[in-house]
Amino acid sequence: MPDQLIAGNWKMHGTVAWSLALVEELKHRNLDALNAEVCVCPPFTALYAVHQALRGTDIKLGAQDVFWKEQGAYTSQISPPMLVELGVSYVIIGHSETRGRFGVPEPDFTEEILRHFGENDATVNLKVKAALLHGLTPIVCVGETLAERQAGQTDAVITAQVKRDIDGLDPAEVGCLVFAYEPVWAIGTGEVCDAPEANRVCALIRHIVTDICGEEAAQSVRVLYGGSVKPDNAHDLLEQPHIDGALVGGASLNANSFAEIVSHAHKIAERRNNGG
Ligand code: PGA
Repeated sequence: MPDQLIAGNWKMHGTVAWSLALVEELKHRNLDALNAEVCVCPPFTALYAVHQALRGTDIKLGAQDVFWKEQGAYTSQISPPMLVELGVSYVIIGHSETRGRFGVPEPDFTEEILRHFGENDATVNLKVKAALLHGLTPIVCVGETLAERQAGQTDAVITAQVKRDIDGLDPAEVGCLVFAYEPVWAIGTGEVCDAPEANRVCALIRHIVTDICGEEAAQSVRVLYGGSVKPDNAHDLLEQPHIDGALVGGASLNANSFAEIVSHAHKIAERRNNGG
């Protein structure tokens, strides 16, 4: 079984100096010695500096978004080759904060889309294809809002998102993807999805991949859980059979709490490797 992936989404936190200080602290935790794959996703402005600082470690670098064109008149956007040049290997695509899905009720929802970045499954799909073309591994985020969960629409929402997000990809490409199940109501709220339910939705994602792309793709795809993952709930989540890691927001901004989450993944890997 491959190591779990623990990815830190720093969101819009951190100057270059702050980012470098956090990387130094992470290096002191000697995460390379643990059985877990670790990735940090700083803001674009810190990518180059963090890449330099991570040299000599196994910690991977991720970006928080990418545009689907290689170059051109797309003011403000960052292309896949630009990320590759900076040593980026993972890229978060379709995070609910870029999709503008904050769980607010209609009709404010429309306003939220306009206020934020108007991401939808069509743009997510374009970004996923562009990222793969350039050798970047997408971390594709899907998740339902609170209103959708309360209306019993969770599975339908997740199914529709996954299908649209991977539309037109061949099974080998889908097998390279990382999905992150991130219920919108659990992000940044401290209200974590309970572990069996998170496991159930992660299994659903794998099931959808099986249906569309076959067993091989479903076995190699990785499905993370994200939304208020903290040191005290990480173990329960990470030991679920269909959860292959975590996308961590707030708790990744502190070296101690992030390292603690990574060490939970390590302990679970050790136990599994020993047949437990
Ligand atoms: P959180 O964020 O851990 O702060 O809830 C997770 C995410 O948005 O990826």
